[in-house]
Amino acid sequence: MTERVPVIAGNWKMHRDHLEAIQLVQKLAYHLQEDDYEGQEVVVCPPFVALRSVQTLLQSDKLPIHLGAQNCHSEDEGAFTGEISATMLARLDVRYVVVGHSERRELFGETDEIVNAKVAAVQRHKMRPILCVGEVLDQREAGQAVDVVVSQLQGSLAGIRVADPEELVVAYEPVWAIGTGKTATPQDAQDMCAAIRTELASLYDEQTAAGIRIQYGGSVKPGNVRELMSQPDIDGALVGGASLSSEDFALIVGHR
Ligand code: G3P
Repeated sequence: MTERVPVIAGNWKMHRDHLEAIQLVQKLAYHLQEDDYEGQEVVVCPPFVALRSVQTLLQSDKLPIHLGAQNCHSEDEGAFTGEISATMLARLDVRYVVVGHSERRELFGETDEIVNAKVAAVQRHKMRPILCVGEVLDQREAGQAVDVVVSQLQGSLAGIRVADPEELVVAYEPVWAIGTGKTATPQDAQDMCAAIRTELASLYDEQTAAGIRIQYGGSVKPGNVRELMSQPDIDGALVGGASLSSEDFALIVGHR
């Protein structure tokens, strides 16, 4: 069986300015022990304006925390006022880029086609997309959750090649569990992550699918992370609210 290195990422969303971001990472590093980093990747995704400060801190203090961004534009440059390109992120040593988060899909009209172009842009610049997929409550209650997620995967990954499974992370985030305190049960999360892996096997091949990390996201907390991450197809967590507390995020990272 392919060894998958879990990836635990904090998505800070639109929280923390560049000074607060430095403090948060310093406190996180203070709470984390050396062995917390072993055998897993720890990622923080601050807002764009804090990326440079956090990058400098991670480098100067030689912290084994990776930098992530929360979005990017699909074009490398051009007249796109207010946008940030994958080219720019790559220059800041960003390793992961969250793409297709449900808030981007819902509030900013991102379609699978747009998400697909962003995944391609991230890969073009040798970074790793964290591709978010997930159903809304009505879809789950109507028994359509798997179909919705499979269709998001097909649309978002159309034409995307995966030479090395480490190059792609998929985050299953049921929209009804985001910021609500409601978590999918570990079994429901596992069932969906298994369905995602099955679809990845049909889009790519068994071996590639077995190597792709699949995170769960949606009200992950210190108290539920262990059970979620002990599921066979869950290889990490994409953490929102709890990643804004250095103590809680350190507990999540150090859950083992
Ligand atoms: O991307 C992480 C996210 O959407 C989950 O947020 O606050 O429910 O952990 P939260």
